[in-house]
Amino acid sequence: MNIALRPLAILVLHGPNLNLLGDREPQFYGRRTLAEIDADLRALGEDLGAAVDCRQSNHEGVLIDALQAARGRYDGVLLNGAGLTHTSVALRDAVAWAPPTVEVHLSNPYAREPFRRQSLLAEVCVAGIHGFAADSYLLGLRGLVAWLRDRTEPNDTRGDAR
Ligand code: DQA
Repeated sequence: MNIALRPLAILVLHGPNLNLLGDREPQFYGRRTLAEIDADLRALGEDLGAAVDCRQSNHEGVLIDALQAARGRYDGVLLNGAGLTHTSVALRDAVAWAPPTVEVHLSNPYAREPFRRQSLLAEVCVAGIHGFAADSYLLGLRGLVAWLRDRTEPNDTRGDAR
């Protein structure tokens, strides 16, 4: 079915230490837990006609495996690479091959330490949203769904036409 009409499948990937959300440095990341953020994303996905699967890992290779497996299974990816954003060429290479990806950060990395001001992921992502705490994810999901629905011609049935 045409991507502009059919339900979309979106993978949300959370990187290292994001399992600690709620407790960890709330001045940067807010008070919402990962479970609450995931529930909000699934609820918004229902409103937008998108099935949202959420995963978190502290392990770079697990995130890379998930990105590789996403190709052909998901229409798009919402990714918070956390600390790996600033260091991982391997994660960047996986994103470049994965379905269209939106980069998300709870904090504004550009207003923090110098080592956070570089994202190795940004160039291979469709777009990025940062600085709105948990709302970054919701804004990112809205943007990704709109981008996916917009970019496909009515008679283009491919979900993967980057
Ligand atoms: C983060 C920003 C990163 O610099 C940091 O390492 C994180 C979280 C964010 O969501 O603001 O773990 O990705």
